[in-house]
Amino acid sequence: MTIQWFPGHMTRARRQIQDKLKLIDVVIELLDARIPISSRNPMIDEILQNKPRLVLLNKHDLADPEATASWVAYFAEQGLEALPVDAANGNQMKEIMARSKQLLSVKIEAQLRKGIKPRAIRALIVGIPNVGKSTLINRLAGRKIAATGDKPGVTKGQQWIKVGTEMELLDTPGILWPKFEDQQVGIRLAATGAIKEEILNTVDIAFYTVRYLVTHYGAGLQERFGIEKLPDDPSDTDAIVEVMEAIGRKRGALMSGGRVDLEKASLTILRELRAGKLGRISLETPDDYQAEQPL
Ligand code: G4P
Repeated sequence: MTIQWFPGHMTRARRQIQDKLKLIDVVIELLDARIPISSRNPMIDEILQNKPRLVLLNKHDLADPEATASWVAYFAEQGLEALPVDAANGNQMKEIMARSKQLLSVKIEAQLRKGIKPRAIRALIVGIPNVGKSTLINRLAGRKIAATGDKPGVTKGQQWIKVGTEMELLDTPGILWPKFEDQQVGIRLAATGAIKEEILNTVDIAFYTVRYLVTHYGAGLQERFGIEKLPDDPSDTDAIVEVMEAIGRKRGALMSGGRVDLEKASLTILRELRAGKLGRISLETPDDYQAEQPL
């Protein structure tokens, strides 16, 4: 899904989520495990206020497990419980239910003490486009749910989807916008496929991605593309372009005359990265993120 975000859209998206907050007990905030901060809405704390929240680091199957573990610790430091999941596979659905219930345990126990039988927990899934919201809803529901959309004029009320006996989900997730005014964020979102690469220059996205891979995942890159030697200095622009050219040659991305077609080579690199062919890779760690913070 491609959405053009304008200030009016953002206000509307925010209002729609805040209207739904009144109906629910817990928010399930979906982030991309490979880029948890870049795939996060910059105003999320303000939007959700104090609603109990479970953070899911989705597409964990594609992310570097070590980086994901440091993200779980990072969120824990901020008082947020984060659970790595793979919605496409659907293995952790019981865990998601258990953790959501745990977040409300004080409230549930108080109700039990008063002799009130707690009703099913009501949850809302929120996240930026392509982070896996529909996939997760379908997995939790155990069937394919037709997206109803939040279009004006659609009179259909909110539908609750039963998840086991103890949980209910709103059928329409809350769609959030990323922090795309930040160039680093834009590149990471494009590299992972969260935003369409036509918006940004493909060669630029691949360049920054290859530079990150040379720095953090050199061995995997060498192995996948048979590159003999990686640049000693990743800040050397020409050396990174040479790596991209070597990949292009390896994949037959050539123009007439035998020169490497950098655009084609870039598309190949990004396609293989997104499909997990380069191994499990994360494109940001808490350390990177902290290093990028303005002083
Ligand atoms: P959205 O509702 O938040 O916009 O996202 P959606 O569920 O449509 O998921 C976006 C893409 O991410 C889909 O791929 C989906 O299969 C994939 N995806 C979701 N969760 C996971 C996960 O845990 N691991 C992996 N590897 N992929 C995941 P697509 O290429 O757009 O569609 P398709 O291949 O499913 O047809």
